[in-house]
Amino acid sequence: MIKLKTGISRRTLITGMASGTIMSVANALNARTPSGFPRPPADISDSSLSKDEDYWNNIASYYDSTAGIINLEHGYWGKMARTVQEFYLSATKMVNTQNSYYARKDYTEDHKSCVRRVANALGAEEDEIVLTRNATEAIHNLIRQYRGLDDGDTVLYADIDYPSFKTTMSWLKSARNVNAVQIELPVQADQSELLKKYISAFDANPKLKLILLTHVSNQHGMIVPVKAITAEARARGIDVICDSAQSWGLIDFKIKDIDVDWAGFNLHKWIGAPLGVGALYMRRGSLHKIAPYPGEDDPENKDASARVHTATSNFAAILSIPAALDFHENIGASVKEARLNYLRSLWTTEADKMSNIEVLGGTDESSRTGMASFRKVDKNSVKDAQLLQQTLENKFGIFTVVRKGLASGGCVRVTPQIFNTPAQIEKFVSALKTLN
Ligand SMILES: Cc1ncc(COP(=O)(O)O)c(C=O)c1O
Repeated sequence: MIKLKTGISRRTLITGMASGTIMSVANALNARTPSGFPRPPADISDSSLSKDEDYWNNIASYYDSTAGIINLEHGYWGKMARTVQEFYLSATKMVNTQNSYYARKDYTEDHKSCVRRVANALGAEEDEIVLTRNATEAIHNLIRQYRGLDDGDTVLYADIDYPSFKTTMSWLKSARNVNAVQIELPVQADQSELLKKYISAFDANPKLKLILLTHVSNQHGMIVPVKAITAEARARGIDVICDSAQSWGLIDFKIKDIDVDWAGFNLHKWIGAPLGVGALYMRRGSLHKIAPYPGEDDPENKDASARVHTATSNFAAILSIPAALDFHENIGASVKEARLNYLRSLWTTEADKMSNIEVLGGTDESSRTGMASFRKVDKNSVKDAQLLQQTLENKFGIFTVVRKGLASGGCVRVTPQIFNTPAQIEKFVSALKTLN
């Protein structure tokens, strides 16, 4: 191993996770458990563990807490667990110290290991994953580089989709001379109602070639039945781009559970990686339908990485992916989903009983996540939602966010994280009770 002038091997510069020991980049890339990580009682169900406050207090101790506000807006990005943060800071120091010597000589191999780790976690093949700066980079490239459109074809998206992706789909109108159709989905729905909506949109648009599906909506956390809609689309020759920016880590799934050809993911939301890490998934055999990034070459359509040109990026953030996945997987994706759903249920169950409050999102457990939205009945303007958000923040010290993308108007989104407590949700419910 090459020794640097400091006498320290350049591959032994990263400080270990909770233990604080020195470990190599290579070792850091293997799955591991921080020392002292809480172990749940054996044979406990996800549902019981989701309500075990001793366990979650222990998990919460791995996060720095926000002072002065109850933060219920964790849909923006995920706070790193301290073990991940420490790793990231050490990786930043190492990258900054070693500079191009590390980046030019060792980074390529380390990057490959990180891609492998993401592929394993998603149940994908290594060559199907490309790391990006965020989900937006992945989805924008898929939409812009989609090759399957002819003049007069139709593309389709829904009001619950991510605002920037709706505008990119709509941009195809002028860029490709196609029709762009937006459908409106119910603000409260279950899986079969959502599937029916898409099927009738397919029936109404015979020239449909491409749809955007959002696995979990950023408006109200509703789960869209991506696999069932995609099967129906595939049978009709319609291609699907799936936005999984908000879903990975919020709910527990693998690629086979959505069964799409193309998807964009974030690791800086619910996986808990540092900001600036996303991923593009492209199923083997599907690359001919998405052009390489302008100027890139892939004559055999076998190189997914030719679909993105990220260039110089935050090496330390990417190197921290395994640490983030370790933390996530040590808790367990299904346990995390159960905890987030439990925290959401603590307020939605109460809000459902309030005649002046409308809770938006899924109506059955398979359509619900830890994220949901609400508004006052008959008060659905964006201004109304802004007033609600401000009241919660200024009067009750509870931070939430306004969403404005639904065809039916504005709402306030509420998104607890695993370290939020039932007592904090209880304070939010008390605040809700005073709104009239
Ligand atoms: C459903 C959905 N799609 C896309 C995005 C964009 O994510 P990013 O800005 O990390 O690319 C978000 C972010 O909140 C989202 O919730």
